Amino acid sequence: MDKLLSLNNFVSVENLENEDVEKLIKRAEYFKNGGEAPHLNKEVYVANLFFENSTRTHTSFEMAERKLGLTVIPFDPGHSSVNKGETLYDTLLTLGALGVDLSVIRHSENNYYEKLINLNPDQHLNMGIINGGDGSGQHPSQCMLDIMTIHEQFGTFKGLKVMIVGDLKNSRVARSNMQLLTRLGAKVYFSGPEYWYSSEFDKYGEYAPLDELIEDMDVVMLLRVQHERHDGDKNEKLFSETEYHKLYGLDEKRYNKLKKDAIIMHPGPVNRGVEWADELVEAPKSRYVTQMKNGVFMRMAMIEAVMRGRKLGGLE
Ligand code: CP
Repeated sequence: MDKLLSLNNFVSVENLENEDVEKLIKRAEYFKNGGEAPHLNKEVYVANLFFENSTRTHTSFEMAERKLGLTVIPFDPGHSSVNKGETLYDTLLTLGALGVDLSVIRHSENNYYEKLINLNPDQHLNMGIINGGDGSGQHPSQCMLDIMTIHEQFGTFKGLKVMIVGDLKNSRVARSNMQLLTRLGAKVYFSGPEYWYSSEFDKYGEYAPLDELIEDMDVVMLLRVQHERHDGDKNEKLFSETEYHKLYGLDEKRYNKLKKDAIIMHPGPVNRGVEWADELVEAPKSRYVTQMKNGVFMRMAMIEAVMRGRKLGGLE
């Protein structure tokens, strides 16, 4: 058997080697095909700290943890001492002292994880950190499940044309995906409202009108319009949901222009009738449900990698 991936934390896709990505895909496919979880010779405790709302990522991580045989320690930020001013670091120091080995964290602050993994000599936090999404920074587990879903369809990334459409500026999903997809050899295009495009994306691909390129794309990745992150953005109200759908949404006309083997992806949750026509969310080219299913197996592979990196449960 190939050596399995071993990581101390899993906070970003930026430092993953292509070989690491291959190992994670292989391992996630193994779990998806009914492969057994590794035997743990000692109990491993995990807490999921979601400071932003989540259905998919939170539940999927918990499902993955249970399938791996971990013990999940409930943590509800709304009833925690964070509300008395306790910092994230001190919250984790506390959980670590109680015996928690790993934490999956979603937080609104970009790069929140830096201060948890780059410790000073006088800090003794000893806990594996897995990033469940930081602000508009990274969403490594969504990216990895997207990568698995694309690999399942095409078997390769080299030369694939992937268009990411919509609320780019606010999207951690887009950031992680553009970084990893270009490194794996895909050609990335961006579309959607121009003021959600930023020059920071230039190095990963080119901005182009949706209707000019859609018929050439292998993958169309729709992004959710993130209303909750638009506070103070006066441009956000420039069009209604109907107008957005007409200009940038995946409707029947655009669907019918897609190549025979093209697929449509969306990280969820979907604003039905805005990014995606309601009746097309489960159309044959949609991989929306597949992405969610793959998420459990990819997250098993990611958690296992950190368990191996930290020798938890006797894994190495
Ligand atoms: N894709 C995603 O992160 O969904 P949730 O916000 O429901 O976790």
